[in-house]
Amino acid sequence: MDHMDGLAVSDCPYCPALVDSRSQVVNGGGPEDADLVFVGEAPGAQEDEQGEPFVGRSGSLLDETLRDVGLARADVRITNCVRCRPPENRDPTAEELDNCRGYLEHELEQVDPEVVVTLGKVPSEHLLGRDVAVTNEAGAVEPAELGGKRRRVLICVHPAATFYDRSQESTFEATIEKAAELAGAVDGGQAGLDDF
Ligand code: URA
Repeated sequence: MDHMDGLAVSDCPYCPALVDSRSQVVNGGGPEDADLVFVGEAPGAQEDEQGEPFVGRSGSLLDETLRDVGLARADVRITNCVRCRPPENRDPTAEELDNCRGYLEHELEQVDPEVVVTLGKVPSEHLLGRDVAVTNEAGAVEPAELGGKRRRVLICVHPAATFYDRSQESTFEATIEKAAELAGAVDGGQAGLDDF
């Protein structure tokens, strides 16, 4: 895979606007054999500065909620659909999502997780290939062909959604708990792909 060393991308030239707006490429972080992979949209300002996904306010909430269900951030892998910060935090374009897709596919193939959790509308729609009403569909599990294999995708609201709408907090927490259950990390066991 061009511009990729292991699971890390560097010096990617494919999206001119993002090459201009990024300070650095923000690669996924966490175990390379994680059972759970969380996929966000794109790095924000703090992620761009520190070179790690979900280190800002959204990341703190994700860490805290993982802890509440008995998981540490170090137990899971966290990555994004697009690895470079878009200017003024705009949504990534379809072309930018497309340009970065191969890196994400490769990461998912190598990590081979039990469950892929999509954080928000952009990753949910990008990975499921359909319109997703995230608020209504959060907690739903759907199969998708990702990283060369049929995998379980768990739709989740973006942690930042809870900052604007407090009613999303319980939805976010319940979905993270479900993620832990599906991955076999808490009581409830691990459902197989046949359980769709
Ligand atoms: N939001 C995202 O979608 N990704 C990050 O890395 C940080 C915030």
